[in-house]
Amino acid sequence: MPPFPARTPRESQHETSELMLPQDANNLGHVFGGVILSMMDKAAAVAAIRHARATCVTASIDRVDFREPIHVGDLVVMKASVNHVGRTSVEVGVRVEAEELTSGRRRHTNSCYLTFVAVDRNGRPLEVPPLRPETPDEVRRAAAAVERRRRRLEERDAESRRAGAAPPPRDGDGLGPPDSHAPPDTRPSFA
Ligand SMILES: CC(C)(COP(=O)(O)OP(=O)(O)OC[C@H]1O[C@@H](n2cnc3c(N)ncnc32)[C@H](O)[C@@H]1OP(=O)(O)O)[C@@H](O)C(=O)NCCC(=O)NCCS
Repeated sequence: MPPFPARTPRESQHETSELMLPQDANNLGHVFGGVILSMMDKAAAVAAIRHARATCVTASIDRVDFREPIHVGDLVVMKASVNHVGRTSVEVGVRVEAEELTSGRRRHTNSCYLTFVAVDRNGRPLEVPPLRPETPDEVRRAAAAVERRRRRLEERDAESRRAGAAPPPRDGDGLGPPDSHAPPDTRPSFA
């Protein structure tokens, strides 16, 4: 028997919205991609943490394309739902909609998949409850997530191999190993 009872996607779903203001946008009034990414990360984190009922860190954010602009004055709505869980990781899908408040017209502007890992107080991965998809859509999303997970981990491993095979950076190019005579770096680190 698993150590935790399974949870359904519905139990952790999260919806959030925010009015886009001039500080969120460029001089044409188009909202910065980074504002949307930050909202996606937070909305997805809520769903992942609710599912795991543990601290979760963002392990990866899949490719995001910005196909249509979102404008100042739009209400950005994020809908986050857990699609799939592994042993310690949780994939969350986020659907982004932009509502033009004066007309009520809503556009689906982006979707994105983010992977979170539940961690203990030392940052070590923690087991999460299994997922029990209920609706046909949830079953379809969970199945699609398996293939995404496979590709994501393959890309991560290929990237690690490339990084491992790269020659060490030369001294003097600003990327060399730390100077052994330099004082220790006491700055706080934010993983
Ligand atoms: C995410 C993190 C905890 C993974 O630790 P790790 O030692 O690599 O863990 P493991 O290799 O044992 O993998 C743990 C899980 O993470 C998943 N994972 C690891 N790297 C991943 C990646 N790049 N993309 C998706 N999933 C990933 C693994 O598939 C595994 O999932 P599973 O248990 O469901 O099979 C670690 O890399 C970390 O702390 N990263 C920093 C997170 C952070 O600070 N995020 C905010 C960015 S500022």
